[in-house]
Amino acid sequence: MRSSWSNKLSLIFGPRPPLNWLLLCLVSVLALIAVLGSSSSNTFDSLTPVSVPDIYTNYRRLKEQAAVDYLELRSLSLGASRQRELGLCGRERENYVPCYNVSANLFGGFKDGEEFDRHCEVSRNRERCLVRPPKDYKIPLRWPAGRDVIWSGNVKITKDQFLSSGSMTKRLMLLEENQIAFHSEDGLIFDGVKDYSLQIAKMLGLSDDSQFLQAGVQTVLDIGCGFGSFGAHLVSLNVMAICIAAYEATGSQVQLTLERGLPAMIGNFITRQLPYPALSFEMVHCAQCGIVWDKKDWTLLLEVDRVLKPGGYFVLTSSTSQPYGSSLSMKNSMLTPMEEMTPKICWTLKAQQYETFIWQKTVDSDCYTSRKQGAIPLCNEGHDVRSYYKPLVSCISGTTNKRWTPIRNRSSSPHQLNSAELEIHGVQPDDFFEDLQIWRSALRNYWSLLTPLIFSDHPKRPGDEDPLPPFNMIRNVMDMSAHYGGLNAAFLEERKSVWVMNVVPVNALYTLPLILDLGFAGVLHDWCEPFPTYPRTYDLLHANGLLSHLSSERCSMMDLFLEMDRILRPEGWVVLCDKVGAIEMARMFATQIRWEARVIDLQNGSDQRLLVCQKPFVKK
Ligand SMILES: *[C@@H]1O[C@H](CO)[C@@H](O)[C@H](O)[C@H]1NC(C)=O
Ligand SMILES: *[C@@H]1O[C@H](CO)[C@@H](O)[C@H](O)[C@H]1NC(C)=O
Ligand SMILES: *[C@@H]1O[C@H](CO)[C@@H](O)[C@H](O)[C@H]1NC(C)=O
Repeated sequence: MRSSWSNKLSLIFGPRPPLNWLLLCLVSVLALIAVLGSSSSNTFDSLTPVSVPDIYTNYRRLKEQAAVDYLELRSLSLGASRQRELGLCGRERENYVPCYNVSANLFGGFKDGEEFDRHCEVSRNRERCLVRPPKDYKIPLRWPAGRDVIWSGNVKITKDQFLSSGSMTKRLMLLEENQIAFHSEDGLIFDGVKDYSLQIAKMLGLSDDSQFLQAGVQTVLDIGCGFGSFGAHLVSLNVMAICIAAYEATGSQVQLTLERGLPAMIGNFITRQLPYPALSFEMVHCAQCGIVWDKKDWTLLLEVDRVLKPGGYFVLTSSTSQPYGSSLSMKNSMLTPMEEMTPKICWTLKAQQYETFIWQKTVDSDCYTSRKQGAIPLCNEGHDVRSYYKPLVSCISGTTNKRWTPIRNRSSSPHQLNSAELEIHGVQPDDFFEDLQIWRSALRNYWSLLTPLIFSDHPKRPGDEDPLPPFNMIRNVMDMSAHYGGLNAAFLEERKSVWVMNVVPVNALYTLPLILDLGFAGVLHDWCEPFPTYPRTYDLLHANGLLSHLSSERCSMMDLFLEMDRILRPEGWVVLCDKVGAIEMARMFATQIRWEARVIDLQNGSDQRLLVCQKPFVKK
């Protein structure tokens, strides 16, 4: 069924159709735009509580203009689009994640566990090809069904990994031959995650886990998240849980979690800091995450301390068979190394129950000066600026940071900051709210452009029910140059069921602390390097001004586009907003990597253009 839709696409975009065909198609596109323009805006009205009519009328005009632009660009680009399209990579690259080639790392001289770390300089691959989907790949089920059931052909998992899974956060089962089901909280099968979450809430002195937000817990870093089941439950409580785990060639926790439509990225506790600022998370959670905390002079635990906010919690669940102390196996003596260490970093044991321990980081930065001798030293001031995979340190970070605010003292409404809090970030409230306003209208514009209407004469896919796409088709979104996280905020306001990975480029304004304080998922990234994720993990990539920003840098644009193609799901969307020149260039690359691409003139007198692209579902 799906293929007939793609066939329609290829009629328009595939092998060059004769000109009269093209005209015929255009006429029908135009006609359909005229007919459906009104019905689609009705759909939007019903989806959004506040309707802004002028945007919609403006947008209907834009769509018409788009169809005209299309004809012009089509003829202009006949030359450009003859450029060679890139070939597909071999089957062995179906799950290719650059920077994590263990044999290349070993060959490059990394050892003692460092070979499992991220080394982009070692395994730089020069072969330019498009990572293809596995043979049995299917478009994921829509949210929220896709949270609980995924296609087994979409992820790489061995039979043994399947059978050996069983810890609370890792439970899964084969539903039918081609589907994997995760025990869901509201499903028939009881998986214990809900109980566990309640237990943690009670240990924190809350009446139940719906109070996490009131207790100031907005963002949780879930280390070694299993397959994201704890995070899935937290998301249902409006708590943002970001899963990180090491690169795994098969049975990857990060790949499966993302496949379920939950926030995740590859992140290691080996020798480097995580690409997050100090004081980022209200809770760090590790349930049998396999990290031996007292190894490496406790630098791994100091990294947890660095990213924890004042008053934040470290939740450790560890069964006796998997002790987190390296040499001790008796349950009581297991606690000893942590008992000795935690006062040195001003953590107190808040509660202990069964195999779960909760420590709380101090809210009082004076605690550090009043510690006894032999305590862990404080890092030099200025240490915690822009941590991008810096080596782990054996000192305590963040104590002099302006953002040192106890988690319970933050403004009460989630995903909002008051003027005083914005000023701590050096952001003028006026700037911030103006930016948000721009993104509110931009999002509506994008959303209306993301209907297949602009690429095909089909308003929706055969078999699809109303409402029109992209309703619920988009779940995992990446804002490649997130600035203040305005797109994320607009998505939330519009109650779209998406989550956004807000990426702050290394050389852009450092707004990542602000994004994390808003309770959004965010990460620092150098776009001259591959992003730490598996192929086919995002439904929508958005980049505002990124291309012009990067054009002054050393890296290749073609490599950036290939990387975007790698992490984008088949039939996923790309929205680029940039200056005319950058967009024209982007359009050329898009053609080479086989995306359907359309330039949209926003008609507001600026030299900004949009490039809206869709990645095809290549089946061969
Ligand atoms: C990993 O590195 C080895 C040695 O350099 C190379 O032969 C192999 O092709 C690489 N694997 C991938 C998936 O790039
Ligand atoms: C946080 O709030 C508590 C009680 O509301 C108050 O006593 C304390 O001084 C506040 N701390 C800071 C750092 O603002
Ligand atoms: C036109 O719209 C773009 C995208 O929303 C925006 O960045 C730009 O500032 C606008 N230009 C003017 C002159 O309003």
